Amino acid sequence: MDPREHIREQVKESAEFIKSKITTKPKIGIILGSGLGDMANDVTKKTVISYEDIPNFPIPLAPGHKGNLFVGELENKEVFIMQGRAHYYEGYTMFGVTLPIRVLSELGVEVLIITNSAGGLNDKFSPGDFMIIKDHINLFFNNPLIGRNDERFGPRFVNMVGTYDEKLRDIAKMVSDEEALNVKEGIYAGASGPCYETPAEAKFISLIGADAVGMSTVPEVIVAAHSNLRVLGISCITNSIQKVGKVSHNEVLVEAKKVEDKFRTLIRGIIKKNL
Ligand code: HPA
Repeated sequence: MDPREHIREQVKESAEFIKSKITTKPKIGIILGSGLGDMANDVTKKTVISYEDIPNFPIPLAPGHKGNLFVGELENKEVFIMQGRAHYYEGYTMFGVTLPIRVLSELGVEVLIITNSAGGLNDKFSPGDFMIIKDHINLFFNNPLIGRNDERFGPRFVNMVGTYDEKLRDIAKMVSDEEALNVKEGIYAGASGPCYETPAEAKFISLIGADAVGMSTVPEVIVAAHSNLRVLGISCITNSIQKVGKVSHNEVLVEAKKVEDKFRTLIRGIIKKNL
């Protein structure tokens, strides 16, 4: 079989399964990162589908990632919320970790809000800060679009200028001002993990222009750009890599949990606006 057919078949199969469980057609998709998943419980009129039941969906194995798709309403808008995500470091392929993006696109999503936890490299950032992603640097040394291109998903060569939608970033800044959230903006570097950075790597990643580093988002955003989705990326800065040094996953989850209310205010404030 043509490998492209295989990919398309899997995406269609996942999307058909989800469609069979819902009656709505949300245009907004939200992915909740490490320690940020609890706000999915704010969704009303909800249907909750375990990733384990969705054909082909990658199951998150990292603690802090639950693995449920919520479909319902937030601020009176229809939304899909992915509570947790699978990561490349878990052994999934680049195609595997990005399949949910293609599925959301197939289901009619136009705006994708991608969140994550990240280590701060910029001196001006402190744990508990949020950062609107302005741009990214791909340090995965891999790319989910490698392989034969299926033009039905998107073009062979994908423009990556303006990927992080300016209007959506402005809306996030507006909510930050209105709610006094002091949200920062910066560049996210995505690396495979699962190790955290050595001091030399942290210095290097900072020198090449990143303000924060994490282990997700970049592959998803590349596929979102291929699928012509409008993307908003938000990082929760859970640790300051160069200032504090040692980091543990538990600390990341604890820090993300501490700012849960602020995160909820930001995301709900954004959804409320005319995206
Ligand atoms: N490095 C990479 N990923 C992360 C970090 C970090 O310091 N903190 C949270 N996710």
